[in-house]
Amino acid sequence: MDWKEEDYEKQKIKQMSNIIPHNFQVSKKDRNIQKNHHSFVIWFTGLSGSGKSTVANALEKTLLEKGFHTYILDGDNVRNGLNNNLTFSPEDRTENIRRIAQVAKLMVDAGLIVLSAFVSPYRRDRENVKNIVGKENFVEVFVNTPIQECEKRDVKGLYAKARAGEIKDFTGVNAPYEAPQNPDVEIDTSKSSIEDSVSIIFKAIANKLHLKYE
Ligand code: ADX
Repeated sequence: MDWKEEDYEKQKIKQMSNIIPHNFQVSKKDRNIQKNHHSFVIWFTGLSGSGKSTVANALEKTLLEKGFHTYILDGDNVRNGLNNNLTFSPEDRTENIRRIAQVAKLMVDAGLIVLSAFVSPYRRDRENVKNIVGKENFVEVFVNTPIQECEKRDVKGLYAKARAGEIKDFTGVNAPYEAPQNPDVEIDTSKSSIEDSVSIIFKAIANKLHLKYE
């Protein structure tokens, strides 16, 4: 750490000690009771083209039809806005996931079921999400579609570009993907239809949806 960084760290600690959270009168529990369901994060991880966004989209539709309050955070849209200053270097991916986790945490506090679809290739970053949102609020869905299938689909033409050497740090081609060791749910969209994938996840989250207060 050079002197500038040290200075910055000291400043940060000093500032933090001056930030005193206000005790607001409406709590997460109040918002959950109002909406009549729990709020938590359904975290989709997997390669580009594995089907994360497609399944998240279909699951959100099912949840909405059943009266649940939801929101989708997705790699391509968050990277166009909040995170448009980040690249795909390991450090920037870590920052990408950290910010998303903080946004998801706020949304959970607001009473929403958050469906997030990010490659999130590093195990450590996903662990960090779990710590930020709280492990009781985190459901990890591993979209384990084989790379051969993702590459065959190549919806955005990115695998072809990566193979041609036009994209560096492309997950699965010239950047790593660390598969979850113990995901809450695992799906493979080359084997299960979208509807089947949705019902597998729905079954896995069913006991988390309904309020246990009173
Ligand atoms: S993450 O690794 O930081 O979690 P994120 O999910 O936000 O990635 O963004 C991945 C999306 O960006 C992919 O679906 C793909 O469309 C696009 N993309 C562009 N460049 C890359 C790259 N080098 N590696 C992975 N995805 C990339």
